Amino acid sequence: MSNLTILGSGRHVPGDPVPNEHLARVMDTSAEWIKKRTGIEARHFASVGEGASDLALPACRAALDMAGLTPEDVDYILFNTMTPDYLLPGSGPLLGAKLGIPGVPALDLRQQCAAVPFSLQVAHGLISTGAARTVLLVGADVHSGFMPWSDWGALAGERAADPADYARATEHRGVSVLFGDGAGALVLGRSERPGAGLLGVRVHTDGRHHDALRIAAGGFRGRPFVTAEMLERGEQFPAMNGKDLFRAAVQRLPEVVRSICKDSGVALHDVDYFIAHQANDRINQSVKESLGIPDEKVPSNIARYGNTSSATIPILMDELLRAGKLRAGQLLCLFALGAGLNWGAALLRL
Ligand code: ACO
Repeated sequence: MSNLTILGSGRHVPGDPVPNEHLARVMDTSAEWIKKRTGIEARHFASVGEGASDLALPACRAALDMAGLTPEDVDYILFNTMTPDYLLPGSGPLLGAKLGIPGVPALDLRQQCAAVPFSLQVAHGLISTGAARTVLLVGADVHSGFMPWSDWGALAGERAADPADYARATEHRGVSVLFGDGAGALVLGRSERPGAGLLGVRVHTDGRHHDALRIAAGGFRGRPFVTAEMLERGEQFPAMNGKDLFRAAVQRLPEVVRSICKDSGVALHDVDYFIAHQANDRINQSVKESLGIPDEKVPSNIARYGNTSSATIPILMDELLRAGKLRAGQLLCLFALGAGLNWGAALLRL
């Protein structure tokens, strides 16, 4: 399809890990429940005032360093986030300014957890048409802003949680235990190696299920778009139908992986690594079983970070690259599903 390749990668997670036990201080949950149902053991949370573009900056610098490039070499920024610094403008312009490259186009993509297959397709279009030589693909999300407790001192163990705050957080425990903050970046360019490149990308959207995961407040259907009543009703917190998302993921992800492999003339066993979005370890276990692929081909880091949405795949790629596990010639299948619903897969020969 094209000789697009990864020239460098980087990641950044803020602060210290917050173990499951700390969440049990501010809501009715337990470390065991979270670990057993999701595989998550800890996550990171940004500080107040730290936005997606702030997390993205060190990840991008590290990725450019690995590529042996400087910000001035970047022709295009693809900024993936579902939790931008501001409602407007997007986080892409902020990142461009922080990198010191005004004038470089920055496109914000809102494919939520399905960010990577969609933005690889966009990068392929940019690179193969010559519109860009070097694309900076970044995924950064700061979910701490929608965590349902208000006393972060109670989370840190400085005091007991207020009972009303505890009750409110418990109402939203199904969603809040899943997410963590983080950023991952990939520098994309052309490969000189024969055979290397993007073999195919397949992406889908089905908006009939837009309410499977949605934040109602802050959209422009309201007048004004945020009201005290909305906040009182808790519409600033994501409303999620976890079971529907789970069912969609375990059906759609194996389908899209099979279909991209078939279209690209690749057998499942030819893939060296399946790089999966990290939403819930049980989802990825089920995908592995459906496809009959061994554990060692599906690396996981959800235990340490939770679901960092658009950042999961770039963070995982960076860990694998820096650990020397990814090598030239290997075939990767990246796949993800997120709110929208959006989902997709990409096949990449390193
Ligand atoms: N702690 C303790 N108990 C809990 C918690 C919690 N954090 N959350 C729910 N429970 C309780 C429920 O109240 C319920 O109790 P009940 O049986 O007395 O009614 C029980 O545990 C089981 O709840 P379920 O919702 O049935 O649990 P399930 O096994 O479905 O797991 C989960 C829930 C983890 C959310 C799962 O459905 C899931 O992971 N779904 C996919 C979510 C996902 O991928 N979201 C991200 C999408 S990607 C994106 O675009 C951002």
